[in-house]
Amino acid sequence: MCGIVGYIGGRSAWPIIVKGLQRLEYRGYDSAGIAVIDDGALRVNKCRGKVADLLNLVRSQPIGGTIGIGHTRWATHGEPNDVNAHPHVSMNGHFVVVHNGIIENYREIKARLAEKGYTFKSQTDTEVLANLIECLYIEQGLTAEQAIKAALRKVIGAYGLGIMCVDESGLLFGARKGSPLAVGVGEGEFFLASDATPIAEHTDKIIYLDDEQVVTLSRDGYYVSNLADDHLDPVISHIDFAVDNIDKGGYEHYMLKEIHEQPNSVADTMRGRVNPQTRTISLGGIADVLPRLVKARRIIIVACGTSYHAGLVGEYLFEQFARVNVEVEYASEFRYRDPIITPDDVIIAVSQSGETADTLAAIRMAKQKGALVLGICNVVGSSIARDTDAGIYTHAGPEIGVASTKAFTAQVTVLTMMAFLLGRKRGALSQERYEQLVESLLRVPDMIGRVLQDEAHIRDVSKAYQLAQNAIYLGRGYLYPVALEGALKLKEISYIHAEGYPAAEMKHGPIALIDNCMPVFVLAAHDMYYDKIVNNIQEVKARKGQVIAIVTRGDSEISKMADYVIEIPECDEALLPLVAVVPLQLISYDVAVMRGCNVDQPRNLAKSVTVE
Ligand code: G6P
Repeated sequence: MCGIVGYIGGRSAWPIIVKGLQRLEYRGYDSAGIAVIDDGALRVNKCRGKVADLLNLVRSQPIGGTIGIGHTRWATHGEPNDVNAHPHVSMNGHFVVVHNGIIENYREIKARLAEKGYTFKSQTDTEVLANLIECLYIEQGLTAEQAIKAALRKVIGAYGLGIMCVDESGLLFGARKGSPLAVGVGEGEFFLASDATPIAEHTDKIIYLDDEQVVTLSRDGYYVSNLADDHLDPVISHIDFAVDNIDKGGYEHYMLKEIHEQPNSVADTMRGRVNPQTRTISLGGIADVLPRLVKARRIIIVACGTSYHAGLVGEYLFEQFARVNVEVEYASEFRYRDPIITPDDVIIAVSQSGETADTLAAIRMAKQKGALVLGICNVVGSSIARDTDAGIYTHAGPEIGVASTKAFTAQVTVLTMMAFLLGRKRGALSQERYEQLVESLLRVPDMIGRVLQDEAHIRDVSKAYQLAQNAIYLGRGYLYPVALEGALKLKEISYIHAEGYPAAEMKHGPIALIDNCMPVFVLAAHDMYYDKIVNNIQEVKARKGQVIAIVTRGDSEISKMADYVIEIPECDEALLPLVAVVPLQLISYDVAVMRGCNVDQPRNLAKSVTVE
């Protein structure tokens, strides 16, 4: 959701914070703002729009100061406008706050502060928090740190916070509960950020704060404590990606770069886990809990968005190869349904960011009920990664484009490795078949590379659909979740209404929509459903729908019926999702670019959804 950056050190804070916000802008981009303290004076600039709009606003005005905080917003309370943009300054100007998350009891707090004479400029919960801190600071004669802790003991909800106190301008405060916050540890300088991306170019030493921890940063060091005022000794981790990974690397958009990275990112996901010599899989992250996973009565995969679609692929994989009962649940539904969970169940949370509020809540609930909880996350040190009993990082590298691409293929790769390994351990897969599957999996990066070589043809196909208003995506078996993912990608970034369906369901409703204006993307690779999907294509053509078919290279039958075909290499049916999703990603990208949409920052969306 929102992105927070903070800096204290010997350098000018403003450019460091601006650069950091640009790195974090993928998290939220409806408004931006920065506060710095220069010579004891607080200077705040903020506006509706992007970081670029903020820069236009202050262009040519020199901004000094070596301590500051910044924010890029995804609105929760109050519409995106200049007043609601962060930072928020307390009524008497003592405190300035940037916030990611939601203070749930802000109405009660606001009413109590109003009784004491506090007035509010914005509609935000954050301004209420700034005033609460200030009220406690003044009324109780507390230090800034004590006032922050006292206020946080009174709030219910989630927060990642960056705070400065004008009277203690040599200190920068951070706090987290529910919303991520990390501290970059440099030489005589320190950084605060919602994730590692703004920190990586300054230092590789990072502290991921835990819930209800507060950090006080000075130019001399850091001090981490909890709300009960106990001093804590945090673990310093190392950022595991190079700064090049968070640049566009010559591509026009992050999304296109990330689509193209997939041959490498999928190989990275397998690295050290799939052994080409022995044709075996070993998953160190879950080695200790493997016996319990092998004996699981049921696997429940919980996730949101694209990660949910990866989870659906996982269901097909686990059921086919490990012969274990699987359910896939939207985390937001699962967490509130009081589901029946026993200690024989294994919950697998799938999440790129590792911060999705609903997924996090779902695993906490499942843990309380005694289930083994595993995580498949991309962001190292993220909340879900830390709150699970064990897990497997996807190692896809930072994903900046809001529409998830390489994270999806990495998640499916992890689920595939898990299913094959579990199948072997449960005796559901013969050694021979297991080795064959491992060999096929190792060929996937190359197959994705071959699909990418067809980019120009895919762009030509996309041209025909740039003016479409609706689209249907159809698939069966392993390709049904891919149809859902293709439709999600198109709607997310091109704003074309798109629906994914299991192909056989078309007759039960969507067929009514088909006419000569309706593009129907059909995933029709060689698999056990091939003949059936051919029939589905005929049903669409009989109603004059436009068919764009994703077929196995050399397919001659479908090319006679379809308006366009896009070929993918022949591969094992279970591995089709990893290959067949790639042309759909490219089509969404191309169509969105042709329609002039902001591909990397589509309207209303956020990369990391830290509120429910
Ligand atoms: C948001 C993002 C999606 C993502 C979903 C789940 O909606 O825009 O790309 O799939 O959240 O996020 P997660 O980080 O849990 O995978």
